[in-house]
Amino acid sequence: MNKTILITGANRGIGLALTKLSLEQNFNVEACCRNIEKSIELNNLSQKYNNLNISEMDVTKSESINEVSNHLKKSIDILVCNAGLNNGKGNLFSEDHNEKTINDVMNANVAGPFLTIQKLYKNLNKKDGAKIAIISSLMGSQTHSSPNAPIYRASKAAANNLMRSISSQLISENIVVCSYHPGWVRTDMGGANADISPEESASGLLKHFLGLKMINTGKFYNYDGSSLPL
Ligand SMILES: NC(=O)c1ccc[n+]([C@@H]2O[C@H](COP(=O)([O-])OP(=O)(O)OC[C@H]3O[C@@H](n4cnc5c(N)ncnc54)[C@H](OP(=O)(O)O)[C@@H]3O)[C@@H](O)[C@H]2O)c1
Repeated sequence: MNKTILITGANRGIGLALTKLSLEQNFNVEACCRNIEKSIELNNLSQKYNNLNISEMDVTKSESINEVSNHLKKSIDILVCNAGLNNGKGNLFSEDHNEKTINDVMNANVAGPFLTIQKLYKNLNKKDGAKIAIISSLMGSQTHSSPNAPIYRASKAAANNLMRSISSQLISENIVVCSYHPGWVRTDMGGANADISPEESASGLLKHFLGLKMINTGKFYNYDGSSLPL
């Protein structure tokens, strides 16, 4: 039977590339976005693929995640917490680091994956060992410090830490939980000068998701499958 993958933030960037690749590989794809009407590319894909279902989900809102959970027809084999936000490249003293942007980033990048996993846990395919991938960033690694983007860095360090806690909790149920650096990717967030295309990132990520075993749980990986320090 075809596997089911649920991807948050699926309407653009890395999430959209993962959606396209998963459709090509015959997954049942649950693509989640904040606004279906505005998600032109997802809507175009749904004309071509009948293995695509699009739902609205804001990862910072429990009721929005519960709504998706209640309507899912298939259990999830791979849950990808991809949705994320960067408030800018500034530093301690920059205007782009204010109370609102700090709250927004922490909500999307930390509360987001936490609530997504908490609310969709009941939909995971526990019989065949579901996999959970949190899209984090190398910028969250303690070995990669720099003055720029301190809040984004802190949010991704917290996302990696969440991955450690949740992997410990779910290990007895044979559910693998890992976090990933998707590469520096040419998306709205990564910018035009980034190293790799969304397709290259998605290809490496999906290949690694498919090979995940219990031995991998609790670890942080690059999109090419190499290990990264937390
Ligand atoms: N690009 C890079 O170089 C890079 C490097 C390291 C890590 N990452 C991580 O990779 C992931 C994807 O990044 P990207 O480059 O594809 O970014 P992107 O092009 O800016 O897309 C971000 C996606 O996240 C969604 N999103 C943001 N807040 C959300 C919320 N509260 N609820 C639901 N969806 C929300 C956006 O939806 P809307 O369209 O509605 O805003 C959009 O679909 C992020 O977690 C990012 O931190 C990216």
